Amino acid sequence: MTLRLKKTVVLIGMMGAGKTAVGRALAERLHVPFLDSDEEIERAAAMSIPEIFARDGEDFFRARESEVISRLITNEGAILSTGGGAFLQARNREVIHEQGVSVWLDAELQTLWNRVRHKNTRPLLRTRDPKATLTEIYHKRVPIYAKADLRVTSEPRLPIPEMANRVVEAL
Ligand code: S3P
Repeated sequence: MTLRLKKTVVLIGMMGAGKTAVGRALAERLHVPFLDSDEEIERAAAMSIPEIFARDGEDFFRARESEVISRLITNEGAILSTGGGAFLQARNREVIHEQGVSVWLDAELQTLWNRVRHKNTRPLLRTRDPKATLTEIYHKRVPIYAKADLRVTSEPRLPIPEMANRVVEAL
């Protein structure tokens, strides 16, 4: 199936939801550019996200995130994967609603945990009890993610291309 994208498709959702992997597969499938706000922030700062959080703090990161999203979303017909906190800021939601189509990639908490538990790349999970932190973040964010235009859910072992298919079907 070919699909002509007139807007940037913005993938939102929790850490471990598969935004980057699904975004890449989707962009390949639809023959449109793939953009990733976290990667862009890291590239511009020449630092990793944990380094940015440690050196400049979360507020600094959030400001860069907003700038990058506003800049990248002007690309028509692209896929933009965002960091898990991006959709929480009202100004980001406004930009995304005006210029893009937001797709919430949702997955069960246990699935998210299984995907992030062995990685040390998420500064927000560097706590004494990262599973409890993930759970708390998830429950706080769900009502905000639910404001997305579309929601696509993933089962525990759903392959990435199948998840990308689900997004195409939802669009
Ligand atoms: C964050 C998620 C991360 C990254 C940063 C903050 C969050 O991106 O932007 O560590 O607030 O949920 P992923 O969702 O790609 O892990």
